[in-house]
Amino acid sequence: MSTPLLEVEDLSVEYVTEARTVRAVDRVTFSIAEREVFGLAGESGCGKSTIANAILRLLRDPAVIAGGSIRFAGTDVLALNADELRDFRWRQVAMVFQSAMNSLNPVMTIGDQIADIFTTHEGASKKSALARAGELLDLVGIPQERLRAYPHQLSGGMRQRVVIAMATALRPPLLIMDEPTTALDVVVQQEIMAQIKELQQQLGFAILFITHDISLMVELSDRMAVMYAGRFVETAPAKEILDAPEHPYTRALMNAFPPMSGPRTRLRGLGEGVRFRDIPDLEPVTPTHWVAPHTEDELISEGIA
Ligand SMILES: Nc1ncnc2c1ncn2[C@@H]1O[C@H](COP(=O)(O)OP(=O)(O)O)[C@@H](O)[C@H]1O
Ligand SMILES: [Mg+2]
Repeated sequence: MSTPLLEVEDLSVEYVTEARTVRAVDRVTFSIAEREVFGLAGESGCGKSTIANAILRLLRDPAVIAGGSIRFAGTDVLALNADELRDFRWRQVAMVFQSAMNSLNPVMTIGDQIADIFTTHEGASKKSALARAGELLDLVGIPQERLRAYPHQLSGGMRQRVVIAMATALRPPLLIMDEPTTALDVVVQQEIMAQIKELQQQLGFAILFITHDISLMVELSDRMAVMYAGRFVETAPAKEILDAPEHPYTRALMNAFPPMSGPRTRLRGLGEGVRFRDIPDLEPVTPTHWVAPHTEDELISEGIA
């Protein structure tokens, strides 16, 4: 078997403050193969972004990697120096954040900021960089004349398309998408999901797709993991989780959202006071389907599973 693209092993991340230490990610293990779409689902606050930021070495004080390893194509990510990190981000792994407005510079044209990637990382001339920026816009169905637009002149959906196109600029083999459609309305959200799928098939990058909305990712993902309070509770091919979820929390999360095509209703069942006992290490149900040992009355509060 070839080396996976990304290997996260036993990763723990803590936020250490004077008052207390919060273990936001607790002994998490997963890998992503080339061209694979791996979905990571869990409620807000369960530690998803902390994992994404750890992989890209974006964690800042008071976050501390308390244990484990991260390897990308066999290279120890946690050992990269500043020069290596510059190359690693964008060229090996690029990130798409939730808010395009925060990723884009409001006082620079779209064209100039896309072109910057090529001039900075590849020493391209301004002219060829702008031409390539135009090609990237083509790729996500935005007319090239929008190169001259400023971010605020584009719709939210178009801005997120720009951000996704930028992430693919240097053809990184892995894109991390952290809630890439959460800030958008449902219709635009579905357009962007279709766009992501099309681009992934066309360019063949792998994706770590992060969302609190499990229904959004099942169609896109090859495999997925469900996370609860810093731990994985279940990981399996997405279709298996959809057809036969093992852990009561996975079922609760699935029931909390309507199917992607249906009408939007309020999150049901999950919320304050809903707690599981400590999550033990995952065990295999089948070679590809792993779940944390649990009992069916796992939930400490009633009204959910
Ligand atoms: N800057 C911070 N300082 C202290 N604790 C933090 C900080 N950022 C996140 N946390 C803690 O880590 C947990 C996980 O956060 P995060 O990874 O952002 O979750 P998610 O992306 O799943 O919503 C939060 O519930 C919070 O307790
Ligand atoms: Mg997050």
